Amino acid sequence: MKITLSVIKADIGSIGGHIAPSRRLLETVREYIAKNGSGLLTDNYISHTGDDIAILMTHGQGVGSPRIHKLAWDAFLAGTQVAKEQGLYGAGQDLLKDSFSGNVKGMGPAVAEMEFEERPNEPFLFFAADKTDPGAYNLPLYLAFADVMNTPGLILSPNMAQGFRFVVMDVNHTEGDRVIELVAPEQIYDLAALLRDPERYVVESVWSRATGEQAAAVATSRLHNIAGKYTGKDDPVMLVRVQMNFPATGEVLAPYAHGHFVAGGMRGSHQLPLMPVALNSGISYFDGPPIVSCAAFAEHNGRLTEALDAFAHPFWNTVRDRVAEKTLEMRRQGFFGAAMLPMGELEYTGIMEKLKALDSHFTVRGETPASAPRQVLAR
Ligand code: 13P
Ligand code: 13P
Ligand code: MG
Ligand code: MG
Repeated sequence: MKITLSVIKADIGSIGGHIAPSRRLLETVREYIAKNGSGLLTDNYISHTGDDIAILMTHGQGVGSPRIHKLAWDAFLAGTQVAKEQGLYGAGQDLLKDSFSGNVKGMGPAVAEMEFEERPNEPFLFFAADKTDPGAYNLPLYLAFADVMNTPGLILSPNMAQGFRFVVMDVNHTEGDRVIELVAPEQIYDLAALLRDPERYVVESVWSRATGEQAAAVATSRLHNIAGKYTGKDDPVMLVRVQMNFPATGEVLAPYAHGHFVAGGMRGSHQLPLMPVALNSGISYFDGPPIVSCAAFAEHNGRLTEALDAFAHPFWNTVRDRVAEKTLEMRRQGFFGAAMLPMGELEYTGIMEKLKALDSHFTVRGETPASAPRQVLAR
């Protein structure tokens, strides 16, 4: 049986700044999907990670279906209404366009989808991250699908011996989808050369070379590319099928024990480690640290089991403690150097006006100052 998994997520408002949506907001989205998704969806699961609400759907409509995308968009619109009524912060934050045009891609919400022939048993993982951008998944995907130090299945399982194909997107190219395909293991150096720059090159999908089946789908939207200015962080979602021809669940989860540094945190402008957290967690310290949650499912004929919380296990408490330590260490250097994102990312924020104003006050020693009166420095 062919089935499509679609996850569409958006920040449509939250309590206390960018912490978490209200219960009523979450319920509104749930009720909207339950009422309007019947007959269209086989199943759904609605959750939040930080201030983002994700709608996970199973259906038979294929990838990029206007009906599915419209359902999610309208659910977020209904939610935005409630967010406004409750005075939530950033009501409708990620709904960047006024009218729906067939696909939520390029409109603000993040989307990850894949259609596949269902296996007799179909385990998969649904990841959602808050206060970071899609490149945050680059390293974990590289480690899980291309690095034998992380994934012994690459040498132990005959099904994985041929390796995986990565589709990587250049997210700075806004005129269309600019992508490259690289295969592991032969091209891992090329792959690493791109993935080291997670703000520009983002893994969009991963495929089994043995069977051609899709293993992973990642949301690649960069909000500043849509809005042209800072409107919040992209907060990406990801779907990963596991076991058999794909890495085991534990191999896909293992890289999150590193707490690698990602773009995000306060005002989307910092470098902080990614903390694996329980489902439906909020945000706290310094509008961060960036968080990632993982719901594990089994699925049959499009019906989902209950979600298991992959990062709730006691093992992850030690990881969280370490990530908290790394976060505090980085925050000790405030605005300085590596603590903040490079200029290319900050150019979507207000710092550009400040630098422009300062620029006119620079002088070159020995050169005659321009005769024009200087601007007064903006405070
Ligand atoms: P089980 O024997 O529990 O199915 O585990 C198999 C496995 O490969 C786990 O990584
Ligand atoms: P979100 O993208 O999660 O709304 O966070 C925005 C922000 O600026 C936090 O400081
Ligand atoms: Mg927000
Ligand atoms: Mg968010």
